[in-house]
Amino acid sequence: MISTALTRRFALATPVVGAPMAGVAGGALARAVSLGGGLGMIGVGAATPASFVVEQCAVPRSDGLPFGVGLMAWALPDRPDLLDATLRATPDLVSISFGDPAPWVPHLHDAGITVATQVNTVADLHRALAAGVDLVVAQGSEAGGHTGQRATLPLLQEVLALTDRPVLAAGGIATGAGMAAALAAGAAGVWVGTPLLACPEGLNSPAARERVRAAAGEETVLTRAFDVAEGIPWPERWPGRALVNDFSRAWHGREAELVHDAGARQRVVDGRRSGDPATAPVYAGESVGLVTAERPAAEVVRELDAGAERALRAVAELLDGPPTP
Ligand SMILES: Cc1cc2nc3c(=O)[nH]c(=O)nc-3n(C[C@H](O)[C@H](O)[C@H](O)COP(=O)(O)O)c2cc1C
Repeated sequence: MISTALTRRFALATPVVGAPMAGVAGGALARAVSLGGGLGMIGVGAATPASFVVEQCAVPRSDGLPFGVGLMAWALPDRPDLLDATLRATPDLVSISFGDPAPWVPHLHDAGITVATQVNTVADLHRALAAGVDLVVAQGSEAGGHTGQRATLPLLQEVLALTDRPVLAAGGIATGAGMAAALAAGAAGVWVGTPLLACPEGLNSPAARERVRAAAGEETVLTRAFDVAEGIPWPERWPGRALVNDFSRAWHGREAELVHDAGARQRVVDGRRSGDPATAPVYAGESVGLVTAERPAAEVVRELDAGAERALRAVAELLDGPPTP
């Protein structure tokens, strides 16, 4: 059994957090991750109704399982109702990512909730530490969804050197061996999203899950084109990593032009409504090439755990080789 600061804090069987993924990770996925021994999170977007938070949190809660909620810092000033609903749901963990978490940390701490934040730069880390977060997530640009420009491993190493607080690694981790690498580097756990994108418990459509299973690791793009098309006011420093499709091929890098093309923007909105993966975004990370089958989330978590343990034991054996003559 792998024991870290993360497993000890939440009494988990394995140091795996199921990332909050707006539009994918609702209560059923969070519950399934926690049933697998990890900690499942519910993703809340800028336009998510507060009633969604209440309903979805009830799913893992009704089984007495640990769970978390992921909020977006940049959206909260206009959506205080999302924080209120989250506080009422009393999750074990709340992440406030993509912006300064400072205004919200005291409210969460007063409610006895552990606070995490994803950081994409060293400056983000210093801001998070000043805000008093309990857990830091080093999110590399290999990650699916919105992310920064630094790669996971160098960012993780830099963050670990600068803080004693538990640090989780996010971005590109999809096998037990990959998880072992993050733990060997000093992470207290992994925060995985893409490996859960083909799970039947997700809120994403069967067509999106099929696209994920078919996609190769080279078929992602870090782009603002979908946010511009959908009119979502994401701050520019966090583009989103999505599967390449007809729309991104035509518009990635031409966002300034896209702003003035109402017809093109409407195609994404329509594609989202009809579930057409040629125009609508399917957010996914670089590890997508490793996600090839639809599998229950608990199984994905258990396999990560077993694989990490095997890999860590195999690495330890490297130290016990025959003595050098
Ligand atoms: C479809 C999708 C939606 C996401 N939505 C959110 C979100 O709502 N809030 C958040 O903090 N992170 C979100 N993320 C980022 C994840 O929290 C996490 O950093 C990422 O999935 C980890 O990298 P990986 O995808 O390589 O496993 C999302 C990621 C994906 C793939």
